[in-house]
Amino acid sequence: MNLQGKTILITGASAGIGRACALQLAQQGAHIIALGRRQDALDALAASLPKGQVRTLAGDLNDEAFVQKIDALAPELDAFVNNAGVLRYAPILDLTPEDNAWMFQTNVLAALRVTQGIARGMVHNKRGHIVFMSSIAAREVYRLASVYCATKHALSALARSFRLELQGHGIKVTEVAPGMVDTDIRAGSTHPDVLASVATRKFKALTAQEVAQAVVYALSAEPNCCPDLIELRPQGSA
Ligand SMILES: NC(=O)c1ccc[n+]([C@@H]2O[C@H](COP(=O)([O-])OP(=O)(O)OC[C@H]3O[C@@H](n4cnc5c(N)ncnc54)[C@H](OP(=O)(O)O)[C@@H]3O)[C@@H](O)[C@H]2O)c1
Repeated sequence: MNLQGKTILITGASAGIGRACALQLAQQGAHIIALGRRQDALDALAASLPKGQVRTLAGDLNDEAFVQKIDALAPELDAFVNNAGVLRYAPILDLTPEDNAWMFQTNVLAALRVTQGIARGMVHNKRGHIVFMSSIAAREVYRLASVYCATKHALSALARSFRLELQGHGIKVTEVAPGMVDTDIRAGSTHPDVLASVATRKFKALTAQEVAQAVVYALSAEPNCCPDLIELRPQGSA
C-alpha cells in the first residue's frame, strides 16, 4: 500500500529497530504513533521529524492501564509494528527466575495482549497489517540465548496464529526475523561468556536501518501480496 497518510503504531520506537522503523515509515509519509517507556527518547524522535507527523505515548507494555490506552487507538490504525522486546543472554544455568519472567512477560505476554487489542479494532475495520519483530532466534537456538530464543519461538507461533485467524478479516500479518542487529538490546548481558562470544564473532551485525527497510517493504506490498516471513542475516553469519 501507499504509506502516505497511513497511521502506524510502533512499540519500542524510542530506540534501535523501532526508532529506525518510525523514521523510515515517516519518510514514506505515514503518521506514526511512537511508543516506549522513555518520554525523553520519544520526544527526541518526534523532534527529528516534521511537526505533527509523530504522536508519542510513553508507558510500560506490562501495565494493563497503559495497554488499555493503546486499545483505544486501535480503530484509527492502518498498521501495527509489534517490535518492543528485551533480552538477557547468559548460560542457561545462570539465568534467574526474574530474568526468565521478565523476558516471557515482555516478549510474549505483553506482545500478545497488545496485539489482541489492536487486532480487535482491525477486525472491526476489516483491514490492517501487523508486523511481528521476531528474530532468527525464533527459528534456531544458540548458546547463551536459551530463554530469549524460547520467547521468540513463542512469538513466532503467535504471529502465525494471528495470520491464520485474521486473514479472513482482510488483515495481513508479517513476521520479520533479523539476526544480530547493532542496537543496545544486549547492554544488560554482561556475563563474561557473553562478552567473550560477542568479542569473537566473525561477522558484522545488521543495522537497525536495514531491518526497517524490510518493514517498509512489507507494509508497502500490494494489497493481494502478504509477505509472511522476512528473514535477514548478516552476510557470513549463517
Ligand atoms: N538487536 C538485535 O540483535 C535483534 C535481533 C532480532 C530481533 N530483535 C528484536 O527487535 C526488537 C527491538 O529490539 P532492539 O534491538 O531495537 O532493542 P532496543 O534498542 O533495546 O529497543 C527496545 C525497545 O523496546 C522498548 N521496550 C522494552 N521493554 C518495554 C516495555 N516493558 N514497555 C514498553 N516498551 C519497552 C524500549 O523502550 P524504552 O527503552 O523506552 O523502555 C525500546 O524502545 C525486539 O523485539 C528484539 O527482540 C533484535
